[in-house]
Amino acid sequence: MHADTLAVHGAHGPDAATGAVAPAIHLSTTFERAADGTLPHGFLYARDANPNRAALERVLTTLEGGAAAAAFSSGQAATMAVFQSLAPGDHVVLPESVYYGTRKLMDQVFARWGLTSSCVDMRDAENVARALRVESRLVWMETPSNPLLAVADIARIVELAHGAGAVCAVDNTWATPVGQKPLALGADLVMHSSTKYLGGHGDVMGGALVARADDDLFQRVRTVQTAGGAIAAPFDCWLVVRGIKTLPHRVRVHTANALAVSQFLESHPRVEAVHYPGLSSHPGHAIAARQMSAFGGMVSIQVRGGRDAALAMKARVRLFTRATSLGGPESLIEHRASVESPDSGTPENLLRLSIGLEHPDDLIADLDQALGP
Ligand SMILES: Cc1ncc(COP(=O)(O)O)c(C=O)c1O
Repeated sequence: MHADTLAVHGAHGPDAATGAVAPAIHLSTTFERAADGTLPHGFLYARDANPNRAALERVLTTLEGGAAAAAFSSGQAATMAVFQSLAPGDHVVLPESVYYGTRKLMDQVFARWGLTSSCVDMRDAENVARALRVESRLVWMETPSNPLLAVADIARIVELAHGAGAVCAVDNTWATPVGQKPLALGADLVMHSSTKYLGGHGDVMGGALVARADDDLFQRVRTVQTAGGAIAAPFDCWLVVRGIKTLPHRVRVHTANALAVSQFLESHPRVEAVHYPGLSSHPGHAIAARQMSAFGGMVSIQVRGGRDAALAMKARVRLFTRATSLGGPESLIEHRASVESPDSGTPENLLRLSIGLEHPDDLIADLDQALGP
């Protein structure tokens, strides 16, 4: 079946007990045992599993084409679960261009727990080959990356990771399962901040991991989830399940809008560079076109005139909202260097745009007036 259909039907059918078409929210923390001690509905205690979380994990598994999924209270909790599934002394290869919070977790939390890491420019897969060591256990990818939209070749990097005895996890937050299917390209795990496009309305925090196989790696992740307890709450799961029903439609509009905005910005004299993998001028366009079916709604630009010019443009927007995060209906604009750590390397003249669901002409008109004559 197509993603449009799976997104609508992949979590649940009508409720067997009541006929309700929309799902209930199950707040119960505990579940009744039968007289013989068995659990007729398979649920024991809400930290282990809950009907709303099970429904969300089901639809995510289906959409990503995996074997199992685990839903967490945030994207960062999902990323932590992957790092926590490793052992002291293990080595991780990370991309240079990566969500700054992922780097922060590795440098400020997991380095103290004995993980070592190397950051490489994954736009060239051979840099991964050079960074792999005998103790490498994980290659973490993020493509397209936050905030530079760097594109990495998933199939090639998976091949290199597997050849060195490491697993490969891909942060698929920006592409969504509608735009990119890392598991089909050989990746072992897909990570999502469901706070973004999956929830889709800027009103819920969540994270998820989807595994290609229900193997030892996934069981370690499941243990971190259920024993550690950074689980997604029932209402949060319910909201993400609801968001996912319209995900394919939203991604199509986000993508069409982002392409229109990028094409406009690319020809604007006050814009030094536009980073969007859907543009044929993007250095990773050929790889993106091969491994993505939609280029997504995220665009970064570098404004001529440096930091001051970028901040001035950001101050002039009227329709865009000056706020962090992404993936909701409202278009957002953010000066990334201001929110990242000073050593993140993000250019000072870079503005990150989360292109929303407004009409593209209105978005372009706002950016045009904000850039000035
Ligand atoms: C690519 C990417 N991965 C992970 C995260 C972290 O997710 P969360 O904020 O849900 O913890 C973000 C948040 O912006 C992100 O953009």
